[in-house]
Amino acid sequence: MILTAMLFYPGGEHLTSWRLPGGRPADYLSVGYYEDFARTAERAGFAALFYADELYVWDRFPSGVEHVANLRPEPFGLLGALTRCTERIGLVATVSTTYNEPFHTARQVGSLDFLSSGRAGWNLVTSASDEEARNFGLDRNLDHAARYRRGAEFVEVVHGLWDSWDDGAVAPDVASGRYADPAGMHVLDHEGEFFRVRGPLNLPRPPQGRHVLFQAGSSEDGRRLAGQHAEAVFVPGSAPLPGAQRLYEDYKSRAVAAGRARSDLLVLPALSPVLGATTAQAHERVDEIEALTPDRLSLDWLSHHLGVDLSDRPLDEEFRFDFAGGSNQVQTVYEGIRKLVDRDRFTLRELYRVMLRRRFLPGTPEEVADWMTERFTAGAADGFTLAFSSVPQGLTEFADQVVPLLVRRGVLAPELPEATLRGNLGLPVPRSRWA
Ligand SMILES: Cc1cc2nc3c(=O)[nH]c(=O)nc-3n(C[C@H](O)[C@H](O)[C@H](O)COP(=O)(O)O)c2cc1C
Repeated sequence: MILTAMLFYPGGEHLTSWRLPGGRPADYLSVGYYEDFARTAERAGFAALFYADELYVWDRFPSGVEHVANLRPEPFGLLGALTRCTERIGLVATVSTTYNEPFHTARQVGSLDFLSSGRAGWNLVTSASDEEARNFGLDRNLDHAARYRRGAEFVEVVHGLWDSWDDGAVAPDVASGRYADPAGMHVLDHEGEFFRVRGPLNLPRPPQGRHVLFQAGSSEDGRRLAGQHAEAVFVPGSAPLPGAQRLYEDYKSRAVAAGRARSDLLVLPALSPVLGATTAQAHERVDEIEALTPDRLSLDWLSHHLGVDLSDRPLDEEFRFDFAGGSNQVQTVYEGIRKLVDRDRFTLRELYRVMLRRRFLPGTPEEVADWMTERFTAGAADGFTLAFSSVPQGLTEFADQVVPLLVRRGVLAPELPEATLRGNLGLPVPRSRWA
């Protein structure tokens, strides 16, 4: 079983996790905070630390500014620093293909791969918010389909740039004065719909040959891109088992259809456990998360995902909504809300409560370990992306209470077997296109 430790909001998965007991909101810009997290995750046998990222402040609604703690360091400075206090754990950064250039990304992730001796990964996202667009010269985000077309071309360019140098082409020889072999250098000369990139990259081929590509979009376009290019996908994890098995098969069959092996694409559902000594106590902790989340913030979060300001709607009458307009934001969340509202009657208050709660898995350590083991053995997951409801507490509790159970059950290795991310994920080192 592969585990990755995710950090989205620095205080934990939920909008107001920073308020939970043990939270350290004053430390979110201190390297020590992230060092503690990385060391604990490495000690517990997590294959990777996944540092999620977005390129905006959520100020669409005043509640987002007033109550959400999401100001934090950018990924590459941070993960570069974490190479110094860890030895085996993978370091995965989110990079948006909509608001970056492939040359920069090839260089950043390639550099992280060198500086970490083969532990770099890249989580490809296409960015979902208009707020992000406005930080990069646009009024609104690119259309969903265009975002994914750009994402696919972006990956091809980055892969091409990483193959700029043959393995062994850069071999400095002081005696002869020969630094590199010109015959081993390749100029990419890419021209496509979105990018014109000559290359070559000013880095030799990275230690992992290619960094590991993660991807997190679950729409049709997102899945297609994952089937072609990704080596691990983060998928929403709260679906009932049969739905999770179907999703797992869908990704695997897309990889096979793209000419790859099933094992070339790992499916890692996101999971937010909330642990308690008893089941009832775990549920009480979810109540606590809910109690610390102002109603107005939950409502604004729903407005954000539906693309309509719902603040003048009555909270306690049946909620009706016309979903025909579709969404240019996160389609997976939009569709999730649509399915709920199609199936049952909800007031707005009930709907945002359900949406808040459905992301958490409350239980005792045994119950959570059982749940994970079942999903893993029943063909619904190759492992999990742990998005802790609180940080650092959620990680330390999981490491101390759930990990030993998974090891005892023989589904999780007691320690990381390798010192590269590919090695720990069981993924092969790809050959250069020129080999
Ligand atoms: C586990 C997980 C992690 C994610 N991390 C990020 C992230 O770091 N940055 C981001 O902009 N989106 C992130 N997303 C959102 C996805 O990248 C994507 O935007 C979203 O799923 C919408 O894509 P879709 O329209 O293809 O469903 C994440 C999603 C999941 C399930």
